[in-house]
Amino acid sequence: MRLVADGVTLGYGGKDQRAVVDAVSLEIPDRATTVIVGPNGCGKSTLLRGMARLLHPTHGAVLLDGKAVHQQPTKEVAKVLGLMPQSPIAPEGITVVDLVGRGRAPHRGPLSRWSTADDEAVAEALALTSTLELADRVVDELSGGQRQRVWVAMALAQQTDLLLLDEPTTFLDVAHQLDLLDLLHSLRQSRGTTVVMVLHDLNLAARYADRLVALRDGRVVAEGTPAEVVTEERVREVFGLDCRVVPDPVAGTPLVVPMGRHHRVPSDTPEPQLALDGSEA
Ligand SMILES: Nc1ncnc2c1ncn2[C@@H]1O[C@H](COP(=O)(O)OP(=O)(O)O)[C@@H](O)[C@H]1O
Ligand SMILES: [Mg+2]
Repeated sequence: MRLVADGVTLGYGGKDQRAVVDAVSLEIPDRATTVIVGPNGCGKSTLLRGMARLLHPTHGAVLLDGKAVHQQPTKEVAKVLGLMPQSPIAPEGITVVDLVGRGRAPHRGPLSRWSTADDEAVAEALALTSTLELADRVVDELSGGQRQRVWVAMALAQQTDLLLLDEPTTFLDVAHQLDLLDLLHSLRQSRGTTVVMVLHDLNLAARYADRLVALRDGRVVAEGTPAEVVTEERVREVFGLDCRVVPDPVAGTPLVVPMGRHHRVPSDTPEPQLALDGSEA
């Protein structure tokens, strides 16, 4: 395993010095897709930022190829590990092709010129994310979904073996969500890319993850295959959600059907049949 979190504690300082991620140990399987799930504010983005070396752990270490990631030069890390953050901010007025081109920075020396390899990487990233026709547009003027695909393109142009993505599908319509997840899946198949991503949608997470990690209050509360992690008990424990879990009719993976307050648990005893006027039939 190239990427390992070893008892990592992360926080943002402040008065209470609260640990947002609390002594988390994780081994990220190579050439596989790991999906992190958990309720709002449980520390998913913080953990991803820690693994991508943007936040320094107060305890423990993130190891990349056996060495503490925080002791390796930014550029060296960026050649093998890319992060698409949850709410990235584009420089004002930058065009799509220029933003995607910034993904090439780690591969260039201080004075080195733009190369054919850079051109090819950018063109490929634009093509893979269906953003070629947006190439000359200004990023600020795109829709949320278009912008999200552009950020993914930038991460792809970086051509790293490990790709960390924080909620890459939030702004996408359903068809584009599946397109993106299929694209990441095919990268894994064709290039052996290791993908770690945070996903909101448990059902898509269960479909696309080889390994699921459930976080709650900054701790790992469950870890394993989707079938192991996505159970009615776990979903209640992690998300505080009553649900049914049934096999996804398309993929066979666990499908969470939330209950909500207005729907009763179907029971074995049939409800009394009511006639239209409300009297018992
Ligand atoms: N830059 C920051 N400064 C201070 N606190 C933060 C910062 N970012 C996140 N937090 C806090 O850390 C906790 C976890 O946040 P986050 O990792 O973004 O959660 P998630 O991605 O699971 O929704 C939250 O309580 C949040 O308020
Ligand atoms: Mg987040």
